[in-house]
Amino acid sequence: MQGKLRLGVNIDHVATIRNARGGDAPDPVRAALLAVEAGADGITAHLREDRRHIRDGDMERLMAALQVPLNFEMAATAEMAAIATRLRPHAACLVPEKREERTTEGGLDVAGNIPALKDYVARLAEAGMRVSLFVEADPRQLDAARAVGAPVVELHTGTYCEHEGEARARELARLAAAARHGASIGLEVHAGHGLGFETVGPVAAIAELMELNIGHFLIGEAVFLGLGPAIRRMRALMDEARARKAA
Ligand code: PXP
Repeated sequence: MQGKLRLGVNIDHVATIRNARGGDAPDPVRAALLAVEAGADGITAHLREDRRHIRDGDMERLMAALQVPLNFEMAATAEMAAIATRLRPHAACLVPEKREERTTEGGLDVAGNIPALKDYVARLAEAGMRVSLFVEADPRQLDAARAVGAPVVELHTGTYCEHEGEARARELARLAAAARHGASIGLEVHAGHGLGFETVGPVAAIAELMELNIGHFLIGEAVFLGLGPAIRRMRALMDEARARKAA
């Protein structure tokens, strides 16, 4: 039987709104607790080098407050390794990070950085984290993820979400093929970036996927529906897509 598809809610943009005014509200930790109440199986937060949204203190408070797994999104830098190995979250997701980008723009080039990533992944794994690599849906990158010893990959769904029609269908097929390939070589496969109510169903129906990480759309939709109802609706769309596929 197929397992339930987990939903990780990314709360970075609650911190973006907080930081726009410089005070303490809205509090991303409060949003994380509400997300869990609404059906999130885990919380994701990205501590960026420039601290533009989540800050060090938020990570500390999330670690203290959460009863569900925390997925620490981070660039593969020495500074982040030091913070992650001190906090020891459940998971660490390594992403490429460019100062000038608005969001994570592409996948990590694992294939081009095998020796450095092997050591980096080993260091986090020794501290007890389940390491995930955020990659494009490219079999070369998945094989490389396996080679560096990461147990998990997260497939970048941004291009799929940005396109429509045939181009979107092609991207979906690429995601499905990558998920199959990843599972066949023993990786746990996740996906995320840019997903919303309209785009989540076909991705949730990919049987090999174990987890989706969704943030920006949910925080935006919270303005209209409230955060709890937005997450419950996303959860229902994921579950319906899985049930239809299994039937
Ligand atoms: N997964 C990863 C690795 C990401 O970097 C992000 C964005 O921070 C997400 C998922 C969530 O993307 P979005 O906020 O567009 O839903």
